Amino acid sequence: MSQIDYLVKPGGQLTGEFRVPGDKSISHRSIMFGAIADGTTHVTGFLQGEDSLNTLRAFRAMGVEIEGPNDKGEVTIHGVGIDGLKKPSKDIDLGNSGTSIRLMSGLLSGQTFDVVLSGDRSLSKRPMKRVTDPLALMGAIVDTDEGGRPPLRINGGSTIKGIDYVMPMASAQVKSCVLLAGMYAEGKTCVTEPATTRDHTERMLNAFGYPVETTGNKMCIEGGARLTACDIDVPSDISSAAFYMVGGSIAENSDITLQHVGVNPTRTGVIDILKLMGANIELLNERIVGGEPVADIRIQSAKLKGINVPESLVPLAIDEFPVLFVAAACAEGQTVITGAEELRVKESDRIQVMADGLQAIGVDAEATPDGMIINGGPVKGGKVHSRDDHRIAMAFTMAGLRSESDIIIEDCENVNTSFPDFIGIANKAGIAVSVCS
Ligand code: S3P
Repeated sequence: MSQIDYLVKPGGQLTGEFRVPGDKSISHRSIMFGAIADGTTHVTGFLQGEDSLNTLRAFRAMGVEIEGPNDKGEVTIHGVGIDGLKKPSKDIDLGNSGTSIRLMSGLLSGQTFDVVLSGDRSLSKRPMKRVTDPLALMGAIVDTDEGGRPPLRINGGSTIKGIDYVMPMASAQVKSCVLLAGMYAEGKTCVTEPATTRDHTERMLNAFGYPVETTGNKMCIEGGARLTACDIDVPSDISSAAFYMVGGSIAENSDITLQHVGVNPTRTGVIDILKLMGANIELLNERIVGGEPVADIRIQSAKLKGINVPESLVPLAIDEFPVLFVAAACAEGQTVITGAEELRVKESDRIQVMADGLQAIGVDAEATPDGMIINGGPVKGGKVHSRDDHRIAMAFTMAGLRSESDIIIEDCENVNTSFPDFIGIANKAGIAVSVCS
């Protein structure tokens, strides 16, 4: 793949109404559950980004007939039933996608065949012990490379038993992995999370008629039931909308509306944090679509101020910190983020990479073991590196709205994993970003 860099010209104002692409978490799950359901599942609004397409290709490789996505994001999945997946003819490459590898490790531990799951340079560095530990307790046999890194070699044919697992970290991927293995386990599987994380797995399994019981922060599932196909309308991804929430707040004279955004309460930490900073964000036309809350979101320019980010909001905004750091850089006063050590094991070490990049464009930012201290002030401009991380690239694009000179962002190919046509929408909205080489 040839390297793509972004050039962001300083300034701009954001206006208009836009629909950002479909939710990544929901898109992944629609394929996984549609594939093992009985009957035909119709999906609309599917994210045509590389991550969710990798999940789609993986299930095709395991014998599931999947039509689309067409240009409207319509996908038709001909489910093969809970025991209908077939051994793929070769290893499954999941590219950059942590959600694919972690959820599929659970789902595939319960199959009769062996399978190997691998990924790209960034995914190959990410920790998998967090899923292989509970899977081993369930009786699954999953080998990893040194240090618990991918590829994951899953040995089929093991007898999987239900467990009562208390998760050491707040992670929806780990929770989902254990619940998906739990569908193939003898007896009941329960997972307790230390803090609330996104609940798309629980909601969507219930929509497919496979009951998941939630009591406080404990989720339980019984093995041996079946899924029934259903229709899924994927809302726009709040994690993609977040770039424009920050952009619309920090750019002067802006007024932008994002349509049909998923506002599941386990994902809306970014709105709460921005409102605490003084943002002018309104939720309009709130409705429920296919079991998920959805709204149009209007953002107008605001003078942001620095805050201490409440730790309880961290897991509810976990993917939005790169751009929230940019909001803090443009705010008046100091912002302190703590309790966010999980950011160090995302697509990049998002604490270090963002602190390095912010410093490179003249911002007073200091990385701490579990967060960052940022003193808002002028953003100068300069060259930053995305370190293979889509959200770092998009976050620094927003910084250009307030910079004094150009920002060059290196290595932006991976923006395609979650936000196809990011540049097209950014240009329409009023951001002067282009590809340079
Ligand atoms: C996701 C869970 C989160 C998030 C990721 C998507 C999911 O990861 O960062 O982008 O779809 O379950 P963790 O579970 O590692 O926090």
